[in-house]
Amino acid sequence: MKTYILPLALLCASLSLTPCGDDENNTINTPTEDVVPGTNHRILIAYFSEPLPDNGVDAASSASRLIVNGDLCGSVEYMATVIGEATGGDRVRIQTATPYPEEYAALADQANEERLNGTHPALATNIENFDDYDVIFVGYPIWWYQMPMAMYSFFDAYDFTGKTIIPFSSHGGSGWSGTVDDIAEMEPQATMVNGYSIPRNSVAESADGIRSWLREIGIIE
Ligand SMILES: Cc1cc2nc3c(=O)[nH]c(=O)nc-3n(C[C@H](O)[C@H](O)[C@H](O)COP(=O)(O)O)c2cc1C
Repeated sequence: MKTYILPLALLCASLSLTPCGDDENNTINTPTEDVVPGTNHRILIAYFSEPLPDNGVDAASSASRLIVNGDLCGSVEYMATVIGEATGGDRVRIQTATPYPEEYAALADQANEERLNGTHPALATNIENFDDYDVIFVGYPIWWYQMPMAMYSFFDAYDFTGKTIIPFSSHGGSGWSGTVDDIAEMEPQATMVNGYSIPRNSVAESADGIRSWLREIGIIE
């Protein structure tokens, strides 16, 4: 729990949000397609995920930590793996040039500083063949009630004109937090398709739900 109580509590205090975690933030105002338009897709799954190692968090939160094949796995990373295996799409992890701290409080502080300063951190990730893809799944955790700032760097870096964006996300309780609208605003020339957002405590059991959603939007049979 503590991994998101701190930012939520601070956010509520600083933004006077009442009540904290209100569903209002989960409303999507952007028109989104029910089904992915077109056929013969070339699919990219681009995602940001920052799993915290054991020493980064307390025992309560480590209980919900995801271990896959003996390795620590981020929530969004896990979702990306399921989407990749189901669709056959290529997967790429969005990483910053300077890695984030592995200790939770330091990470929360840095993420908040970046948010408050509007910093778009430099990325280590470079997708040279981005233009080869027409459908881009975009995955991210909610940080401080929005996308991590590295996602803004990602949207700066690529031209999404004519592409289809399918968002997916994991959170600690605050849902989409307006992020689908934020993406649509940054990429008005792209088509947005209904995304998938799950609380991190449900991620370990999420594979069937993810595959059902992929069938609903018509990207798999
Ligand atoms: C710096 C930081 C800020 C966070 N802020 C929020 C938040 O505002 N709302 C929320 O619901 N969860 C918040 N969380 C929780 C993450 O969204 C959640 O743990 C997510 O599953 C992490 O995905 P990952 O393991 O792929 O990085 C925050 C986590 C971190 C590390």
